[in-house]
Amino acid sequence: MLEKLENLKTEADNAIAASANAEKLREVEVEFLGRKGKLTEILRELKNLPAEEKGKVGKASNELKIEIEAKIAAKAGELENSRFEKLAGEEWIDPTQPGIAARRGTLHPLTQFIREAEKVFTGMGFTIASGPQIEDDFHNFTALNIPADHPARDAQDTLFLADEEGKLLRTQTSSVQIRWMEERKPPFRIVAPGRVFRKDDFDASHSPMFHQLEGLVVDREISLANMKAVMEEAVKQLIAPEAKFRFRTSYFPFVEPGLEMDMSCTICGGKGCSVCKRTGWIEIVGCGLVHPNVLRNVEIDSAKWSGFAFGFGIDRMVMLRHGIKDLRLLFDNDLRFLRQF
Ligand code: PHE
Repeated sequence: MLEKLENLKTEADNAIAASANAEKLREVEVEFLGRKGKLTEILRELKNLPAEEKGKVGKASNELKIEIEAKIAAKAGELENSRFEKLAGEEWIDPTQPGIAARRGTLHPLTQFIREAEKVFTGMGFTIASGPQIEDDFHNFTALNIPADHPARDAQDTLFLADEEGKLLRTQTSSVQIRWMEERKPPFRIVAPGRVFRKDDFDASHSPMFHQLEGLVVDREISLANMKAVMEEAVKQLIAPEAKFRFRTSYFPFVEPGLEMDMSCTICGGKGCSVCKRTGWIEIVGCGLVHPNVLRNVEIDSAKWSGFAFGFGIDRMVMLRHGIKDLRLLFDNDLRFLRQF
């Protein structure tokens, strides 16, 4: 029996030495030490041996087991080292080589503007609101006091959904005014930036999809002076601190009085150029005091509450801010253009 162990030791030594890689070594381990391994077999036969032999063989078997385990571990270490040595010869990196910097993306100039506008307005106590781009007639027109025969309701101007009766792409963010007021009690101050859609050409100054930022304040005794202060402050911060403003009367069914705010042309400094059509002024936002009918439509008591609303034309403002002369550049997604911001 002891002789058998001696032979097994030689056999194991040879097998371990001959293992060319980790998988082979693992096979050798199973062959000798596994559950049905050669050494395990011997240990199993121990119980059939006479008592005095049992002790000797048992001790020798256990020693051999420990020895084989140690040799396998040593061989595994050797194999691992030589694998790394080989890799070091084949694969290498030069840690002194300068890195390749990942190019950082930038936010779209419209997104940048919207985020800054949100900061400016939240700084003045406004909350950010939003509403769906697919709207219904009530929120886009009726509740905003827009009469049934108003041209904006014409299929010529508005994009109606073909397969959903009464649904349309909102033509203005003013619909968010209604959605906000329907669900809350005044006072409130909100701004709602977002996309709007109209049937329109796609040229240097028109697009069937563009962006607005709606503002709405409803509180006690709100006046045009409040509106003027808020709007001028916001536009100065967002576009040009030195800008001058003027207000002209205009008409929007949901405000009374309705006004248009013009800003002195930032391109020519007010002298007159092609962008401002030689007038020195550029129209950037419609605004006015919220019409009592609108408050009534959302069950707010117009005897107690009053407010103002405005609708920034964001695309126009971004063009003015960066001196961009063609609106389409904002929507082409040409990286050569976008990377400049
Ligand atoms: N919704 C108007 C438009 O699209 C702009 C506006 C908003 C005017 C709020 C007055 C008050 O032209």
